[in-house]
Amino acid sequence: MRTKIVAGNWKMNNDQNETNALIKALKSQDSFGNTRVIIAPSYVHLAQAVALTNDCEIEVSAQNMHEAKSGAFTGEISPSMLSSIGIRTVILGHSERRAYFGENDDTLSKKVANALDHDMEVIFCFGEELEDRKSANHFEVVKAQISNVLFQLNAADWSRIILAYEPVWAIGTGETASPEQAQEMHAFIRNLIQDQYDTALADEVSILYGGSVKPGNAQEIFSKQDVDGGLIGGAALNAADFTTIIKSI
Ligand code: PGA
Repeated sequence: MRTKIVAGNWKMNNDQNETNALIKALKSQDSFGNTRVIIAPSYVHLAQAVALTNDCEIEVSAQNMHEAKSGAFTGEISPSMLSSIGIRTVILGHSERRAYFGENDDTLSKKVANALDHDMEVIFCFGEELEDRKSANHFEVVKAQISNVLFQLNAADWSRIILAYEPVWAIGTGETASPEQAQEMHAFIRNLIQDQYDTALADEVSILYGGSVKPGNAQEIFSKQDVDGGLIGGAALNAADFTTIIKSI
């Protein structure tokens, strides 16, 4: 059975005290069962988040990393820096990184390769813009985003890939893809992987949905056959909301 995952992308939110408080509030919840729960605080709080979650099932991810192993890249963070403080997972390709920091397929191919070289797991984000959907290009756009970056990987690498379909028009807008739209795209993605690799691999990959997932809509979205959980932004900043979303699986 595919792993169910709920990941919280905290983006550029929460100072040190708020980070501690949110982690403590999440830890006070009951067990999350078989669902993997991942939080992605900012870089500066990762070490503290790892220390605070050592004794529980919550995992900690980075929100990004640089494509080079080391060197003269002022302000950047390398995968070995992350793994040296116990970070095993990194979010790559988030639409905000693509839109505001110029990340493209080429950068992302290098980042994914660098993460895998350091035995890290990647939550790879992609998704179409509103215009793509309006012009019925959304399948083509998503196909290119996935195939240009991930189809150069060998089958074994995919055990460390988690996909996150996040239609850009649904991120932080309060507008969610309908459960049917999410299911349609997730099934399309699984078929792509099946065509490129095989059925067993396609069946194993967890595909998360992201974009305005809230306590009130999570259950319906997560009930769809090919939706294996969610990547949560705004609602991950509130312990009660995030917990309700996790328990909706
Ligand atoms: P949102 O963000 O839940 O606030 O829409 C999702 C994301 O950016 O991953």
